[in-house]
Amino acid sequence: MSLDSLDEFIAAIDRIGELVRIREPVRTHLEIAEIADRAMKSPNGGPALLFEQPILPDGSVSAMPVAINLFGSRRRICLALGVESLDEVGDRIAEMVNLKVPEGILAKLAMLPRLAELTKFPPKVQSGRPACQEVIWRGDEIDFDRIPFLQTWPGDGGRYITLPMVITRDPVRGTRNVGMYRVQVLGKRELAMHWQRHKSGAAHWREMAERGEKMPVVIAVGGDPASIYSGSAPLPPGIDEFLFAGFIRRNNVELAKAVTCDLDVPAESDLVIEGYIDPAEPLVMEGPFGDHTGFYSLADLYPRMHVTAVTMKRKPVYAATLVGRPPMEDYWLGHATERIFLPLLKLTVPEVVDYHMPAAGIFHNLVFVSIDKQYPGQAYKVMHALWGQGLMSLAKVIVVVDKDANVHDADEVWWVALNHIDPKRDVEFVRGPVDVLDHASQHFSFGSKMGIDGTRKWPEEGFTREWPEKIEMDGETKAKVDALWPKLGLGTRDAGHGTSGKGRK
Ligand SMILES: Cc1cc2nc3c(=O)[nH]c(=O)nc-3n(C[C@H](O)[C@H](O)[C@H](O)COP(=O)(O)O)c2cc1C
Repeated sequence: MSLDSLDEFIAAIDRIGELVRIREPVRTHLEIAEIADRAMKSPNGGPALLFEQPILPDGSVSAMPVAINLFGSRRRICLALGVESLDEVGDRIAEMVNLKVPEGILAKLAMLPRLAELTKFPPKVQSGRPACQEVIWRGDEIDFDRIPFLQTWPGDGGRYITLPMVITRDPVRGTRNVGMYRVQVLGKRELAMHWQRHKSGAAHWREMAERGEKMPVVIAVGGDPASIYSGSAPLPPGIDEFLFAGFIRRNNVELAKAVTCDLDVPAESDLVIEGYIDPAEPLVMEGPFGDHTGFYSLADLYPRMHVTAVTMKRKPVYAATLVGRPPMEDYWLGHATERIFLPLLKLTVPEVVDYHMPAAGIFHNLVFVSIDKQYPGQAYKVMHALWGQGLMSLAKVIVVVDKDANVHDADEVWWVALNHIDPKRDVEFVRGPVDVLDHASQHFSFGSKMGIDGTRKWPEEGFTREWPEKIEMDGETKAKVDALWPKLGLGTRDAGHGTSGKGRK
């Protein structure tokens, strides 16, 4: 059964014993963030937190509780997506994309339900008043000071919405995009929209600017957890995140018409901010913001959003996250994407066996890839293929290793790769777009990237010396020691079958 709302997600987290309700009043200014940071840094990602009495900047207590770190553990991200293991979603995708059309009409017909799987649960627009519009603020009623938006770090430019679904429409194709982009609160009815230039929301904005038209924008917060996750997924432009969320949760996402703009919003959202961006208006300063790099992103120019209505449930919960020095909650959102997209990556780069983006690399800084190497120079083919794929193009360092290395164990990857490289021969530097958050690149969003070929070198690659074998104990001795182990007084630890299997997969 799918989780249809934030309330259901929170109740499910409570049932698995991973929710802590905090009844003590706590300030939305830094204090909630500091508590959340300590939780996120504790073993297994710490508990999800529900602050029942958030204190607003004017000292009053908000009636809207703040939920944070909801997605921040392996169990909770699986719960959010309705799976036992994150690879399940990827496996379903693999099954669809690997379909070989069989001979015979009956066999072909039998395949139809599997092909229809992706489009089986399209978003549906409800009629009648949706839950997210039980309360409606318009005009002077709109007051962001009454909503418990957080300031998360002392040097931040102000309060931010950190876990939103920003909904826009491509004016040319008419397709919807949902992106998780932070939004800064500028005043009672104004926001700054931090969609980076490589993202779909920014592309829609550029198209609207070219047409000279105002752009409707909706920010939905809360709602069903698969939809919230989908906003962070790097889907190709033109694929609707709510269709993808429907596929993940095996249930349609219910939508409703926004009250003041021509866009649809998830009916179960806790809070919806409707408005528009006028591309003809000057940009505004957004930031600084304590970012998921663990450093502050510098203030920069972004579009201003004018708010025309705020709608909400009668008893909304405000869902937020905190980013900063890893590991944080967003590791788990990114990790879900890593697992779900592996089969799609293999479609275009079939020699990829596995890949992993370790927490310290904050997604774009470090990608480990293992490959089934079949010909000389293949590691370079793979790194360039990755630099040619969507947001993977922003990967700063790619380390390629042979298929027997476990990419989920950073120690193992570095041990193997560092042994296998001659730095001058095996490191390649290229230029191209880099992440907007990269504060070290030579230019803003344009710089260099590094590929490391940590695979075994072949004679055809010019390596004429003998390549050594990896040291491993023989099976007979291991079995003998396993049998001896209990008599050795060395405790009951696993009788030492090597180092494989470690990692956060
Ligand atoms: C917690 C969190 C915050 C994020 N903040 C931003 C942001 O402020 N701006 C941005 O462009 N991307 C941000 N991202 C990354 C995007 O959500 C991600 O790249 C997504 O794929 C964008 O969707 P799009 O491809 O539809 O544009 C954030 C991701 C997470 C998990």
